[in-house]
Amino acid sequence: MPILRSTFIALSRNRPLRRFCENSRLGVRLSSRFVAGMEIEGALRTAQAVNQQGIAVTLDSLGESVTSEAEAHRAADIYHQLLDRVAARKLNAHISVKLTQMGLELSPNLAESITQSLAQHAHATDNFIRIDMEDSRLTQVTLDIVRRLHAHPESRGSIGVVIQAYLYRSQADVEQLIAEGIRVRLCKGAYKEPAGVAFPRKVDVDENFIRLSCMLLDSPVYHALATHDDAMIAAIKSYAAEHGIAPSHFEFQMLYGIKRDLQRKLVQEGYKVRVYVPFGSDWYPYFMRRLAERPANVVFLARNFFRS
Ligand code: FDA
Repeated sequence: MPILRSTFIALSRNRPLRRFCENSRLGVRLSSRFVAGMEIEGALRTAQAVNQQGIAVTLDSLGESVTSEAEAHRAADIYHQLLDRVAARKLNAHISVKLTQMGLELSPNLAESITQSLAQHAHATDNFIRIDMEDSRLTQVTLDIVRRLHAHPESRGSIGVVIQAYLYRSQADVEQLIAEGIRVRLCKGAYKEPAGVAFPRKVDVDENFIRLSCMLLDSPVYHALATHDDAMIAAIKSYAAEHGIAPSHFEFQMLYGIKRDLQRKLVQEGYKVRVYVPFGSDWYPYFMRRLAERPANVVFLARNFFRS
């Protein structure tokens, strides 16, 4: 299984295969299980349908690592449109943004100023922007930018970040973010990281995920616990129940198209659930990371493809 995971992560960076898949009808059809269409309108329709099931949404306009300033501004413009259209339709939908898509690898200052205007727009429309976490080379710069934007009066409280339980540093980061009142989405982590920075064994990642979840639940700030893992969810529920933490004090988050029954069951049990809804033509690396998490998805997709 670890070999398959590495293979899919390596494939996620393969440019010729990416070009081929993104332009093929077969690729678009297969990706539709995890990606809500290629355009803003499709994503908003999906958000509305998900909201109707009592589930909140966070919208991700797919794309990472832009290569020009103009591209970064175009990517941000899609998010500005999303914020306006979410407000106009009164959807329950945040936005999730990757700093490399806002130009982080071209210039951290560029990414910060573009993200600052998004955070201010989110604040002005009573919405919220979550900064996704990318690979570990970018952890520190991402946290620094989020901290500065959170401290800004025009975006304070409207920006949060993601912490990955597989990184050794995450406990210290969680402590600091809690002290600063910054909202965290905790996930296990989706990138291939060296053993020098991340726990190589799943059992250690899971243990750290539960430890960090308990710290977040104990804090006065509203956080998100992002996982499809039944064992993690059971541990969170029982910690909350034992410590008198109300279900309204936190939310579970899951990815669009994954464990839909579990999402609905949690809502029926009175928990808050938010689904991460990605859309757009740059779906290939996202899709490959989902296959890396669960290589059995290839069989699942193939079966559904030939059935339909
Ligand atoms: P784990 O991988 O152990 O899976 C537990 C079980 O869940 C599996 O046995 C399977 O049943 C099911 N499952 C998990 N993944 C599946 C899949 N792809 N298809 C079908 N079933 C699946 N990562 C990151 O590095 N930076 C980020 O910013 C984010 N953001 C983010 C937001 C949200 C809302 C979610 C849910 C996840 C992320 N992630 C992320 C991804 C995260 O790091 C992680 O890779 C996945 O959530 C898979 O980990 P699980 O906690 O689900 O457990």
